[in-house]
Amino acid sequence: MRIIKYLVAFFSTFVLAFPVYSLEKIVIHSKNASIQLVLQNDGEGNFHYTINYMGEEIIAPSHIGFRLNKPAVSLQKFDRLSIDTSSTEDSWETVWGEEKVVRNSYKAIKYSMRDRLGSGILVNLYFRVYNDGVAFRYEFPEQQAFAHFIVGDENTTFKMNGNHTAFWIPGDYDSNEYQYNKTRLEDINAYTASAKEQDIALKTVYDSNAVQTPLLLKTDAGVYINIHEAALINYPVMQLLLNKTDHSLITHLVPDAVGNKAYLKTPFRTPWRTIIITGKATEMLSSRMIINCNEPSVIKDPSWIKPQKFMGMWWEMHIGKANWQKADGKHGANTENVKTYIDFASKNGFDGVLVEGWNEGWEDWFGNWKENVFDFITPYPDYDIKSLSEYAAAKGVKLIMHHETSGSVTNYERHMDTAFRYMLAHGINTVKTGYVGRIIPRGEYHDGQWMVNHFQRVAEKAARYKIMIEAHESVRPTGLHRTYPNWLSNEAARGNEFNNAPTLGLHPEHETILPFTRMMGGPMDYTPGFFRFRLNQYDSSRTTRVRTTLAKQLANFVIIYSPLQMAGDLPENYALYPDAFQFIRDVAVDWDETKILSAEPGDYIVMARKARNKEEWFAAAVTDENNRSVSFNFKFLEPGIRYEATIYRDGEDAHWETNPTSYRIEKKKITSKSVLPVKLAKGGGAAIHIRRL
Ligand code: NOJ
Ligand code: CA
Repeated sequence: MRIIKYLVAFFSTFVLAFPVYSLEKIVIHSKNASIQLVLQNDGEGNFHYTINYMGEEIIAPSHIGFRLNKPAVSLQKFDRLSIDTSSTEDSWETVWGEEKVVRNSYKAIKYSMRDRLGSGILVNLYFRVYNDGVAFRYEFPEQQAFAHFIVGDENTTFKMNGNHTAFWIPGDYDSNEYQYNKTRLEDINAYTASAKEQDIALKTVYDSNAVQTPLLLKTDAGVYINIHEAALINYPVMQLLLNKTDHSLITHLVPDAVGNKAYLKTPFRTPWRTIIITGKATEMLSSRMIINCNEPSVIKDPSWIKPQKFMGMWWEMHIGKANWQKADGKHGANTENVKTYIDFASKNGFDGVLVEGWNEGWEDWFGNWKENVFDFITPYPDYDIKSLSEYAAAKGVKLIMHHETSGSVTNYERHMDTAFRYMLAHGINTVKTGYVGRIIPRGEYHDGQWMVNHFQRVAEKAARYKIMIEAHESVRPTGLHRTYPNWLSNEAARGNEFNNAPTLGLHPEHETILPFTRMMGGPMDYTPGFFRFRLNQYDSSRTTRVRTTLAKQLANFVIIYSPLQMAGDLPENYALYPDAFQFIRDVAVDWDETKILSAEPGDYIVMARKARNKEEWFAAAVTDENNRSVSFNFKFLEPGIRYEATIYRDGEDAHWETNPTSYRIEKKKITSKSVLPVKLAKGGGAAIHIRRL
């Protein structure tokens, strides 16, 4: 007969250094007792974890484990060796962020195990129990006779206890630029969604039940669950494969070019698997669990890292006014044109001007799979980078460099040092990188281990040169901006520019979902601020259009967080609505505090943020395709002080489709006791600038 033994660990620290062969159950409550983590080993080596929220089972008993390709072993049954518990109460200051100070408060348990099926491999599990969820990771400690290994599969499972509502995008190895789908778990069909939504040539969806993370779920009882990962280092992206019969979500790692998942060496720690669980949607958006699971900054003196608001002639190329390449006579990045952008940026208080298409190679950049297209240091003859850098410096703005790799990543790595030195020689310390197309010559996927490592190598090298990074077509963020605060932003989702994609575009609900999904991992270069809604301004054949109101474009500067915020539209379009443009001039990009006032994924978000080191707040609301009334309260303001609120809202007759440019601007005196109802049009929004009187 099996001996049944229950072990209950609450707050104490203890170590049991002998193998346990009996049934064992360990329970850890979060500090506020809302989350309960249960760890069980059934005595036959089968380990399960379970998570309850407010007494309700959210993650049903779920297993963990690995299949290794080398050595060829399956790690699925374990003997428990020891347990170590602890409690952390901490806070840390951000270099930049949605908050100045982030609180990090959790209980932890280290659960040490040994493979029971013969290999003797040691594996440790680290769990953290936060008030808003659970994070855990594996560790392969240094050990004799197990040094190098190749992962075939990670078998971490997240078993749901129902057919929840899911906000998901298909499990594509190469792209996260999708519209979100909202369906029941059982109705997920990644192939159909991919076929419908993707219009670039790289379709690498491997299973109709495969989805990407961050995955947002809502139970019928109204509990919100977000599954993602934190600190993705030297490991592939985790996708989730749904088993529709029992609602299990099983880890699927993005493979490399020959089908392996990860090449590792002990000691190694996997990324954290994060499960955020909240009773309110607003609490989900306030969660800081993912960034907290990342290591502190490796940059000792971050004084050179600066959040920035920038613009550039980027949209000219997208809507057909100009082109990246020089050959067709419409070259956008010519000295005269860029000068006008520098003038505009300087006059309107922008920090930077992005210049795309400045360097030789664009004639060949897309779809040819050529390896040595760019050297990143040879400007086109009509682009005088030296005089422009000097001109920009005299006007108090900086040029922002663009390195499109066209997927030729080894080529970029070969040129990175010279490219970064070239930037610094021209007074440029921010670069937007791009990875359009297949990753050549290795044939790796954008989300595999090799590319994950590439993005980290870029961040590290850039830090050595004191250069700030913003990556497009990159792996989606996992909170690494805490560790590498010079890696300010990423695209890694469908951005505003997709409004110009033939037959696709963004649904009006997109910005009400992004903060709950993609943005949980970190900032996004969304390029808000379009003021022209039909995109046929320079090419009458275009039928593409922006599916928001103008007021919502303003709101997106606050809702879609980025410390590198690009105002997307052309100066001539901003000139059409100078009073509305004032909000873009004023809005901050770095914050002391963020307050989520009300929210529901897929429907609306209302929030307020305090500008860093300033007595100014910016509040905003966005809605989906439905009009609705929302209400701003101002409890976050200092009591007894009078403030002036400048409100940019939809006009009475505004509508994303029929009348997007109808807006009203009004000023009101408010205090911390005021309540302001605002009507949002279909596809609309509101933005508020609050200053002390
Ligand atoms: C795709 C990026 O998302 C876009 O911002 C950029 O302009 C083009 N690639 C060219 O690099
Ligand atoms: Ca909706």
